[in-house]
Amino acid sequence: MATAAGGVAAALSPLSGRDYLSSADCSAEETSALLDLAAHLKSGDRRIDLGNRVLGLIFTKASTRTRVSFQVAMARLGGQTVDLNPQVTQLGRGEPLEDTARVLSRYCDVLAVRTFAQQELVDYAHWATVPVINALTDLEHPCQSLADFLTMREAHGDLPGQTLAYIGDGNNVAHSLMLCGALLGVNVRIGCPQGFEPLPGVLEQARSLAVQGAAIDVIHDPREAVRGSQAVYTDVWASMGQEDEQSEREQAFTGFCVDEALLEAADTESIVLHCLPAHRSEEISPGVMESSASRIFDQAENRLHAQQALLAALMGGL
Ligand code: CP
Ligand code: NVA
Repeated sequence: MATAAGGVAAALSPLSGRDYLSSADCSAEETSALLDLAAHLKSGDRRIDLGNRVLGLIFTKASTRTRVSFQVAMARLGGQTVDLNPQVTQLGRGEPLEDTARVLSRYCDVLAVRTFAQQELVDYAHWATVPVINALTDLEHPCQSLADFLTMREAHGDLPGQTLAYIGDGNNVAHSLMLCGALLGVNVRIGCPQGFEPLPGVLEQARSLAVQGAAIDVIHDPREAVRGSQAVYTDVWASMGQEDEQSEREQAFTGFCVDEALLEAADTESIVLHCLPAHRSEEISPGVMESSASRIFDQAENRLHAQQALLAALMGGL
């Protein structure tokens, strides 16, 4: 379980000044220490005041949880957030990213970017002189995974050896779960229809990072995927930017709804997770969403604690 505060600070000190563009940007020890710090912040064992630091949010896609949890996390660290929505900055009128990133680095101490292409995020990190955080791209959602595994650890204790079954599209959320789970020693099973698998390169990377014998598998039978798992996770079938594929995907994902029947194949103590926003009666049944197994709203809360830990570590505030 959680390590004492001094050990956590030592484990996280190498993160000072670094970017977090992928779940794989932290080592196994650093990832685990971020969860420890998040737990300490959540329980009130630890308080961190970074002074008046400023986070810039550059969000090209919609967001409720990520946006608000970053804003509140920064406020709790004694800092502030500026919302740099591309629609109201010169970015929207074509000012180059390389100029924007360098200018914003003169005002902000850290940037969180939500966009489509991972390469755009990598470009921000290249030109910025402050840490850049992935607040979701088409490839990954690493901040989400920190909150997800914190929630799983709260429910079931030590993570190594536990199994998380993700049922749905092999998307950004699935990619980060595979990478982060591998680092934390969690077996991650992606249960998806043929043609909706995670990227082979990410699967290979997750397997190469796996610690403590964690197995990272892709399974096309949803019942087989959830069998004996301690957490069943799902996400929308059509992500932001894929709205045109909604009806085609509804056909392809028939049988992949996390409903009461599917949950019967999981461990009796299994929890249910969803990154939200949810489409009830598509990827999750209304009953499962509201069931006692659901930790979905704890998971949403944990975005705040996990990102507070991440911000403090990247800004060297420990
Ligand atoms: N889970 C998540 O990232 O939610 P938002 O899109 O509302 O930020
Ligand atoms: N896969 C979803 C996650 C939303 C938080 C998307 O990218 O839209």
